[in-house]
Amino acid sequence: MKAATVFTALVAALGATALPHGKSEEKHTEPTSPNGEPYIPGQCFDRFFMLVGSGHLLNLWKQAPNGRILANYYATTHPSQVSRQNHVQPNYFAHISGTSYGWNSDSPANITGADSFTIVDLMEEKGISWAGYAEDYPISQGCYTPYAPEYANGTEVPHSYVRKHFPFISMETIYTNKTRCNNLYNAKMFWQHLKENKLPRFVY
Ligand SMILES: *[C@@H]1O[C@H](CO)[C@@H](O)[C@H](O)[C@H]1NC(C)=O
Ligand SMILES: *[C@@H]1O[C@H](CO)[C@@H](O)[C@H](O)[C@H]1NC(C)=O
Ligand SMILES: *[C@@H]1O[C@H](CO)[C@@H](O)[C@H](O)[C@H]1NC(C)=O
Repeated sequence: MKAATVFTALVAALGATALPHGKSEEKHTEPTSPNGEPYIPGQCFDRFFMLVGSGHLLNLWKQAPNGRILANYYATTHPSQVSRQNHVQPNYFAHISGTSYGWNSDSPANITGADSFTIVDLMEEKGISWAGYAEDYPISQGCYTPYAPEYANGTEVPHSYVRKHFPFISMETIYTNKTRCNNLYNAKMFWQHLKENKLPRFVY
């Protein structure tokens, strides 16, 4: 299946169940998204979590009551981290846009104009809340556009957040829009939102 088809199917599965007649006034006292949008159950599932990480996540699915592993997923470009020549960034772009744009490097990129429409646009059209959480994101919420956090002397903090791993920040439709940037969080906020029952419907 093409990535764009997968996205459309995913958004449909997360799409709101039509409320039965006469129940449109029904208030959900259940969870909300981080920004307070109401909780709306989905057609097939209520939340979608996309976890990106190394091998230690591989067995996580076994712990879920109905866990499944989709083992037929392949990177769109060279496998990550085999050597410095194999760039990871294009794979991350594809996570949310369905294409690598033919990009072949890890250097900071701005994807602009119509190219920067992503799954975020499909979801917002359907009122599906979303957020991206990144480990060591240098701010707790909002737009952080530099490549990596830096010490006061200007050197990059090693083994920390890097922009190539957080595709949202490279999309013009997101980095120019404060409301959308406010859906980008440091991963610590994930645990807070989980505790407060405020996780969005699509969690990256
Ligand atoms: C991306 O756009 C931002 C905001 O306009 C700008 O500050 C930054 O230099 C651009 N980065 C690249 C890699 O083009
Ligand atoms: C910059 O600061 C960091 C943290 O204090 C330090 O570890 C690093 O060696 C410094 N780098 C340079 C080039 O001074
Ligand atoms: C910014 O994002 C919000 C939330 O997605 C959207 O409603 C608004 O139209 C966007 N603004 C612009 C200028 O694109």
